[in-house]
Amino acid sequence: MSGRLIGVGVGPGDPGLLTLNAVAAIEAAPVVAYLSAEGAASLARTIVEAHLGPQHEERLLEAPMRADPEIVAAFYDAAAAGIAHDLEAGRDVALLCLGDPLLYGSFVYILDRLRDRFAFSVVPGIMSFGAAASRLGRVLARRRDSYTILSSLLPEQRLEALIEASDAVTILKVGKRLPRLKAILARQGLLETAVLVAWVGWPEERIVPLTDWPDDEEAPYFALVLAGPKP
Ligand SMILES: C[S@@+](CC[C@H](N)C(=O)[O-])C[C@H]1O[C@@H](n2cnc3c(N)ncnc32)[C@H](O)[C@@H]1O
Repeated sequence: MSGRLIGVGVGPGDPGLLTLNAVAAIEAAPVVAYLSAEGAASLARTIVEAHLGPQHEERLLEAPMRADPEIVAAFYDAAAAGIAHDLEAGRDVALLCLGDPLLYGSFVYILDRLRDRFAFSVVPGIMSFGAAASRLGRVLARRRDSYTILSSLLPEQRLEALIEASDAVTILKVGKRLPRLKAILARQGLLETAVLVAWVGWPEERIVPLTDWPDDEEAPYFALVLAGPKP
C-alpha cells in the first residue's frame, strides 16, 4: 500500500508554536521532507529539530533562487517525483511547511502534483500574521470589519483596490516591494498606523512602525505588514 503525504504546518518560527498534532505527525512519519532556499539551512527543519531523530529519513528539497517559472516548475516536478518515490514504497512523508501549509505554502505545489495519486492529509499551522498580531496585541478585525490577506506580489492597481475595499489588511511577501506598498498605504490613509513585522519568532525578529522603516533598507522576504482597521 502507498504511503500518505502529510502537509505539516510548523508555524512561523517559535518552536513553541508547533501544535501537538504537528509534533505527533512528525514523530510518526518515517520520512520528513522540507524545503530550503538553495545553499541555505531549512527554516522549517530548524523549527522542528528537537523532534527529529535517527528513526527519520530526511529529504532536503533545495529550491532554486531564480523566479523563472520554468525553473520553478521543474523544481516542483522533481521534488514531487522524489516524494512520490517514497510514497510508492509505502512510506508516509511529512512535508514541513512554514506557517500553515495551505496559505501561500510550497506544500500547495507538491499537493497539486500528487493529490490524484496518493492519500494525503494536512496538519494546520499557526500563520505568520496571527503570531505577529499576538506579539503586538494588535486587533486584526472586530465585529463587522472586513479583513483581507494579500500578497504584495499583486499588480499595483489590484492591490490598492483591495486595500481600499477592506477595513484591515495583512500584506505578506513584502521584501523589495515595500516602497510601493508604503505609497499605497499612504494614499489609503493607513500608513501612519501600519506596522512591519519581520522574522517573527526568530532571533532576527524586528517589529517597527512602518513609517520608521528606513527608505534605503530593503525589507526582508520574511516580513509582513499589518494595516488598519480604518477608524
Ligand atoms: C510563502 S509565504 C508562507 C506563509 C505561511 N504559509 C503562513 O502561514 O504564514 C511567506 C510569507 O509569509 C510571511 N512570513 C512567514 N513567516 C514569517 C515570519 N516568521 N515573520 C514574518 N513574516 C513571515 C512573509 O510575508 C513571507 O513573505
